[in-house]
Amino acid sequence: MVDGSAYEAVKTAIELGYRHIDCAHIYGNEQDVGRALNECIQSGLVRRDELWITSKLWNDSHPAASVKPALELTLENLQLEALDLYLIHWPVVHQTGVYVPESPEQLIPLSDVPISETWNAMEQCVTAGLCRNIGVSNFSRKKLSELIQHATIKPAFNQVESHPFLQQTELLNFCTENQMLMTAYSPLGSADRPDRMKSENEPSLLGHPVINEIATKNSITPAQTLLAWNICRGAVTIPKSTNRQRMQENLAAASIDLADADMQTIATLNRNYRFVDGRFCQLPGSSYTYESLWDEPDLRTG
Ligand code: A2P
Repeated sequence: MVDGSAYEAVKTAIELGYRHIDCAHIYGNEQDVGRALNECIQSGLVRRDELWITSKLWNDSHPAASVKPALELTLENLQLEALDLYLIHWPVVHQTGVYVPESPEQLIPLSDVPISETWNAMEQCVTAGLCRNIGVSNFSRKKLSELIQHATIKPAFNQVESHPFLQQTELLNFCTENQMLMTAYSPLGSADRPDRMKSENEPSLLGHPVINEIATKNSITPAQTLLAWNICRGAVTIPKSTNRQRMQENLAAASIDLADADMQTIATLNRNYRFVDGRFCQLPGSSYTYESLWDEPDLRTG
């Protein structure tokens, strides 16, 4: 949503009753979101303390000295004094000012700017009152374990892709055991993401026959089935929509209880399929590969 539609979407969402707004510097729409938040708060539609605002540190701002200025810019754009949650967007480092790397030299190995350095600066942002909680995104269980070992302030969230084709059950259990929440992004399969992030012949979540069968049986929509499944297993679920009717439909999924039998049927659909595979950093010659990013084999290449 970089075309100004974020302004309308956030206003509509808050009017409908959404209270959690998930932002990121890289989405390029923080000023639009900020304008919408400010208008909703100023008009008395919602109080600041009723909202949960998340944003994310982009990959070009991992060095310790860059973290606080990046958050301050985000706060200025969002017209807020503090965030409820600030996340390290990816365990990936770009050169300063590089939004999307075009050559391997623009990617800096994690060993040069370790996550521990970035995390320490994130902790200082909490101490400075700029954010109430800190967390990570796109972290494997391995990277999360390493972080927890040396963190003074423990990560509160790990935001990862999750849906029936990529269930992340081990990661969800690990988060729960460590008093963290897992947030599920792309819960509907993220069909609107840019073509450069798409693969040929992607499987369809919303069109899957099992999802459609369960939806029909329960008189709900396929999207509500996908969302209710994630919510019922304890994942904070963040569907994206710019359409008022679909926003309403998605919000209503929060009060749908799926039967155990339906949950178990959906559990059989897992195929470890990533719609968002992190290919932006997997440039030949860089230190990032599918395997090093996700700490798992790339089964797509056999
Ligand atoms: P739209 O904005 O037109 O509603 P994800 O949440 O996995 O990132 O997926 C976002 C995509 O899913 C967007 O293309 C969005 O389109 C679409 N979408 C959102 N809610 C629904 C819904 N209830 N039914 C069908 N498609 C939906």
